[in-house]
Amino acid sequence: MTRHIVLIGMMGAGKTAIGLDLARRLRVPFKDSDAEIEAAAAMSITEIFARDGEAFFRAREAQVLGRLLAGPPGVISTGGGAWMRPENRQMVAARGLSVWLNCSPETLWMRVRQRPTRPLLQTADPKGTLLRLLEERGPVYALADAEFVSQAGDSIEATSGRLLTQLR
Ligand code: S3P
Repeated sequence: MTRHIVLIGMMGAGKTAIGLDLARRLRVPFKDSDAEIEAAAAMSITEIFARDGEAFFRAREAQVLGRLLAGPPGVISTGGGAWMRPENRQMVAARGLSVWLNCSPETLWMRVRQRPTRPLLQTADPKGTLLRLLEERGPVYALADAEFVSQAGDSIEATSGRLLTQLR
């Protein structure tokens, strides 16, 4: 593999779980940008947003993404907002294949409501916020090199297997 596979898409799309399984199948390194940001800052994403704000988080995210892309080719999962920055899209385009993990709004909501810690969803109407973000971001996610639609009932293994087939 000469290029990274970079998974993009909304929170709850399964980027981390599917990315991990995909990397295992391809026998390449797996990196999760959110986890790398947390490790570098020795703080959780929630703490970073609360203490330093979203702009600081976005700057860190771009930095980490650049570092991961400079490393050996593997599978990289990104936070849902990373793809919104044109400079991040350019960095990804230079070194990787971007894949939009898409799934239905209902599935996204079902998954994120189980882990209600995401800072952007700390609003009076988290479901409405999620749907609005999806509407706003959808056309930008659609700029990815490939789109993969995951099905609600499928296991992680079935999904990553199907993704691999689509990529080959
Ligand atoms: C965000 C998604 C999160 C995390 C941060 C912001 C977003 O990552 O980066 O809370 O802007 O959609 P996941 O997509 O992995 O949940």
